[in-house]
Amino acid sequence: MKTIHNFDEYLRQVEEAKANPTQYWGEVARDLEWFKPWDQVSSGNFSELNIKWFEGATTNMSTNCLDRHLKTRGHQTALIYVANDPKQAPLKINYLELHQKVCRMASVFTNLGIKKGDVICFYMGMVPELMIGILAATRIGAIHSVVFGGFSAQSLAGRIQDCEAKLLVTNDGGHRGDKIIPLKQVCDEALKECPSIKTVIVHRRTKNNISMTEDRDFWLHDLETTATTVLPATPMKSEDPLFILYTSGSTGRPKGLMHTTGGYMVYAYHTFRNVFQMKAEDIFWCTADIGWVTGHTYLTYGPLLNGNTTVMYEGLPVYPDAGRFWNIIDQLKVTHFYTAPTAIRALQAMDLSFVSKYKLDSLKVLGSVGEPINEEAWEWYHRNIGKGRCPIVDTWWQTETGGIMISPLAHVTECIPAHATYPLPGISPILVDSSGKEITEIEAEGNLCIKSPWPGIARTVWGDHERYRHTYFGSYPGMYFTGDGARRDSRGNYRITGRVDDVINVSGHRLGTAEIEDAINTHPDIVESAVVGYPHKIKGQGIYAFCICPHALESPEQVRQELIAAVNKVIGPIAKPDLIQFVTGLPKTRSGKIMRRILRKVGEGDVSNLGDTSTLLNPEVVDEIVKGKLR
Ligand code: WT7
Repeated sequence: MKTIHNFDEYLRQVEEAKANPTQYWGEVARDLEWFKPWDQVSSGNFSELNIKWFEGATTNMSTNCLDRHLKTRGHQTALIYVANDPKQAPLKINYLELHQKVCRMASVFTNLGIKKGDVICFYMGMVPELMIGILAATRIGAIHSVVFGGFSAQSLAGRIQDCEAKLLVTNDGGHRGDKIIPLKQVCDEALKECPSIKTVIVHRRTKNNISMTEDRDFWLHDLETTATTVLPATPMKSEDPLFILYTSGSTGRPKGLMHTTGGYMVYAYHTFRNVFQMKAEDIFWCTADIGWVTGHTYLTYGPLLNGNTTVMYEGLPVYPDAGRFWNIIDQLKVTHFYTAPTAIRALQAMDLSFVSKYKLDSLKVLGSVGEPINEEAWEWYHRNIGKGRCPIVDTWWQTETGGIMISPLAHVTECIPAHATYPLPGISPILVDSSGKEITEIEAEGNLCIKSPWPGIARTVWGDHERYRHTYFGSYPGMYFTGDGARRDSRGNYRITGRVDDVINVSGHRLGTAEIEDAINTHPDIVESAVVGYPHKIKGQGIYAFCICPHALESPEQVRQELIAAVNKVIGPIAKPDLIQFVTGLPKTRSGKIMRRILRKVGEGDVSNLGDTSTLLNPEVVDEIVKGKLR
C-alpha cells in the first residue's frame, strides 16, 4: 500500500516514483482488483502519444468501487444523499445497497440493448441515480458522457452528436433552490437533431409536467420492474474507454476528453487516498456537480474506490439560506469538505452569523479546487470554517489530468495560502519560457508543463487524436502543456496564476472565449466580438464582451438582453456575459489579429499603460474603447 503518512515518506515516494515509475505505479495498482494482471505497467510517450498503462490487464471500475468492499464493509454507508429541500431527511445507501442499485441499473441498460463500447449520455440533476447510472455504465463496459445540467439544448445536442451516444438518461426536472430546471424539456429540444439516440430513460424527480415520446422515452421505474439486481461486471481491458467528458479550450467546439479504465482508476484511487487522508469512519463531501470532472473523480470514484463515505448534495449553497453548507456539515458530521473558491467567496460576502450558528467541529480537512484561491478567501476559509485547525488542500488539476497533480497532502505536507505547493509523487511539473525552454532556476515564473506521462492522463480527444496532439503537445513538443501559468518559490512550491490561453474561469467553470464570441456573433446586429475575462470579486473572472455594432442602436439595453439570450441558447446560463460594451471596431494588428492584451487591460480597469498601440491597424478605436469602458 502506498499511503503516505508523513513528510519523510512523501520525500521517499517522490524519489522512488522518479527512479522507478513502473515499480511505483505497479505497487499502487496492486491494491485494486484485476481479473487478469498486466503484462506491462506503462508504455508510450509524449512524442508518439501512444500512452498506455497496465496493458494486458482486465478489470472493471464498478467491481473496484463496489464488489471489492462487500465482504469487508458491505454495511458501511457508501453514499449520503442530501436533497435540495432542507426538510427532507438525508438518505443513506450502504455498499450492499449501492451494489444492488448499480446492478439493477446496469440490467436496465442491458435490457435496452446497450453493449460494451456504447456511449450513454447523462443529463441529470444531482440525484443518486446519476451516480448509480455512471457506475452501471462502467459495469457493462458502456462509456459514460455526463453533460452538466446547466448547459443548453444546443450544447447538449453538440455533445451527443460528437460521441454518437445511443442512450440518454435524464430527469423530468431538477430542483435548484425554489426553481425547477426543465431537464426533460431541454432533452426534447436537443433530440430534434440527435439521430444516434434511440432511447431516453427518464428518472422521476420533480413530478413536473413533461411529454413522453412513444417508443423512445421510458420511465426508469417502469424499466426497473423487469430488471435484475445480480449482474456480473464485464471485464474491461485497461485501455478501454471509461468515460468522455467535454471541456472548453481556447478554440473551436468543446473537446471530448477520453479517459481509460485502468490508469484513471489507479490515479483516482491513489490521489484521493493521499491528498485527503480519510479514515474509515470519516465522511467526505465534495460540492461539485457530477457534470464536472471533480464530481467524477472526487465525489464518485475516489471515495468509492477507497471504500469511504461520500456525500452528494442536490441543491445550491445559498438555499434556503447562506448557512446551508455549514448546516449540512454539522448535521452529517462531515470530516472532509471539498469546494470551489467561488463558493467560499460568495459565502464570505454574507453575514458571518450564517457561519457562527454552526459548530463545524467535525471537520478535519478542507479542500479547494477549480480556480486559483486568493489569500483573503483562503484565510477566511481557514479561520471561519476550519477554525484554524484544518489543513486546506489547494488541489490543482484539470479535466485532462484525471486527478489531482499538485496539492498539499493533508496533515503530511505544508499548506501555504493560495499555493498548490508540491506535486504528487510521480508527477513531474516544469516551468517553460515562451520559447519552450525549461526554466531550471528554482525560483521562477513560466508556463506550466508536465514532463512525463502519469496513469490518469486523458488519452485522446474523442474522435480527433490530431486535435489532442495539437492542443496539448503542439506548443512544446514532447511535453504536456496545461494552459496554466505558475510561479515556483525558492522551496519548490507552486502557485498557479491562471490560464495563459484564451480560456476563462468563471466561478470555477471553464469557458472558451471563442465559444462565447461565436454565440454573440449569431445576433444580426453584431458583426464581430471579442470576449475577455476580468477580475470579479465572487466569480474569480467575469465575462466582458466587446461587440462591434456598425450602426447606432435604438435600444442598446434590448440588444444586451438579446445577446445574453443568444449565449444562453448556444451555451447555457453559465456563460452569461457580465459586461457588454458596444464598439465600432476592435484593436487589430496589421495581420488582422485582435489585440486581446489591450482589451484585458481595459477589463482590469487599468488603462494607464496600454503599451505600444501605434502598430495597430486602427489605433483610433483604442480611445473610443477606453472612453466607453465599463470598468
Ligand atoms: C483549470 C482546469 C480540476 C477540477 C476542476 C476544474 C484551474 C483548477 C486549480 C487550483 C488554480 C486551478 C486551472 C486549470 N484550476 N484547480 N487549485 N488552483 N487553478 O477542471 O474545468 O478542467 O479546469 O482550472 O486553470 O487549468 P477544469
